[in-house]
Amino acid sequence: MQLTIIKTMYEDRIKRSGLQGKITSAADAASFIKDGMVVASSGFTKAGDSKAVLKALAAHVQDHPMKITLLTGASLGHGTDGLLAEAHALKKRMPFQVDPVLRSNINSGDVLFMDQHLGESAELINEGIITPDIAVIEALMIEEDGSIVPTTSVGNTASFAAAASRIIVEINISVPLTLHGVHDIFSAGTWPDRKIIPITSAGTRIGRTSIPVDPEKIIAIVITETTDSPAQINERDDKTRAIAGHLLQFFEHEIKRGRLTPSLRPLQSGIGKVANAVLEGFIDGNFHNLTMYSEVLQDSTFSLIDAGKMDFASASSITVSQPCYNRLMNDIERYKPNIVLRPQDISNAAEVIRRLGVISINTAIEFDIYGNVNSTHIAGTKMMNGIGGSNDFARNAYMSVFVTQGSSKAGAISHIVPMASHVDNSEHDVDILVTDFGLADLRGLAPRERAKLIISNCADPAYRDELNDYFLAACKKGGHTPHLLQEALSWHQRMESTGAMKREQVPQDM
Ligand code: COA
Repeated sequence: MQLTIIKTMYEDRIKRSGLQGKITSAADAASFIKDGMVVASSGFTKAGDSKAVLKALAAHVQDHPMKITLLTGASLGHGTDGLLAEAHALKKRMPFQVDPVLRSNINSGDVLFMDQHLGESAELINEGIITPDIAVIEALMIEEDGSIVPTTSVGNTASFAAAASRIIVEINISVPLTLHGVHDIFSAGTWPDRKIIPITSAGTRIGRTSIPVDPEKIIAIVITETTDSPAQINERDDKTRAIAGHLLQFFEHEIKRGRLTPSLRPLQSGIGKVANAVLEGFIDGNFHNLTMYSEVLQDSTFSLIDAGKMDFASASSITVSQPCYNRLMNDIERYKPNIVLRPQDISNAAEVIRRLGVISINTAIEFDIYGNVNSTHIAGTKMMNGIGGSNDFARNAYMSVFVTQGSSKAGAISHIVPMASHVDNSEHDVDILVTDFGLADLRGLAPRERAKLIISNCADPAYRDELNDYFLAACKKGGHTPHLLQEALSWHQRMESTGAMKREQVPQDM
């Protein structure tokens, strides 16, 4: 296509003169990526990710074997992680993923995975511990000064753009230009001159609306129009309703006791059906002027804004269902005064989370009778997704809540176990545990007090006797946090060998 035509077509998206000539195909752009390179891509919880270049790379690697290290903000959409894993194009991956094919290749040892706190992953780049060779960045547009306006996520993109020597930009023309202005890009810098992050409320804006970029580093521009992978919204079921009910009732009690007000404190919530059910529960409850300081804006965020219950929401990405995405993009000017997207080292910054007194709500795979939470490993060995931002928030929150179902797989798995088979969020960082059976407020309790409360309030009644037997036998042996080391992981061993955690029932007449 002639340059003059391209210039006119995309002049509102590529304002920096001279860059229109860099427009090329995804396959040609992907050819800049070579074996052994460290590639950094935009994308956080399937939002604002590379839609074309990484897919073209996966296709190329099918016939031309090579391996890269891939860094992102968090998970990618459109099965891109799976395509790259299937093509054996990944040597290492950081910091988070949710793809079943990639998960399986991580667990087989084919892909090395660095499971990183999302709020700290940029530090590895900023401190020069890992240096990306090339960055692939989805953009709404490029400004006159060469700076890049991101789309539906910011993630680690500002750090990638600063550290990579070469940048490929994917301009996504499906995202309306009216999104411009929603981002707040700020860097605290590095030690020993790291700056204070002056955020004093979820709505404080401290930065600029685009990511500074040296335009000389932009080697290729690809035009795409694929929208983000939509979030799957699972319908509320009896268990998620029960968990949400216990938690909402607890918040109401805290308000009655004068420890919280009806606007609570800024909320963080992990994605998923329980988190969504809890947030949607706020719509009908006696809560108002809520705010969110989280990492992902999800459907429930916009339902709360629409219902007039939430004043402001801050995060690093927008990950919503297709209907919610359409509603949002068609009317973004209406939502813009109520939302902001920040780099993930700011949305998940310990300093800010602590200052604001965030209430964090995250999901556990399992927790033990003392309150240690496993968020990542099945039976202590197999990676599920990664720690994500759960500990960025849990460690620093005013109140750290973890939710899970009491048991699953028709009662074969108890999610409350004698000893967590892997610990991501330790007993020291966990305040409130909730299952469909009830809630345990662990604040101010010692390990032996916690164990009694967790067993009686959170465990499936079918497992309570066995948990109590374990606890009492361990107490006889003694210790501050009593355990029977030879039995502590026997529930997981039993699950591995029989498929169920429960001891076999001894028939009554024996
Ligand atoms: N033993 C064996 N399998 C287990 C298990 C256990 N104790 N706990 C969960 N599983 C399995 C489930 O059976 C399910 O398997 P399936 O897909 O084959 O049915 C799978 O793990 C997911 O479990 P589910 O209960 O559906 O959990 P979820 O979708 O709500 O996700 C986490 C739970 C913990 C995996 C998810 O929240 C996560 O990755 N958290 C870490 C990251 C995070 O917290 N980010 C927060 C900021 S966004």
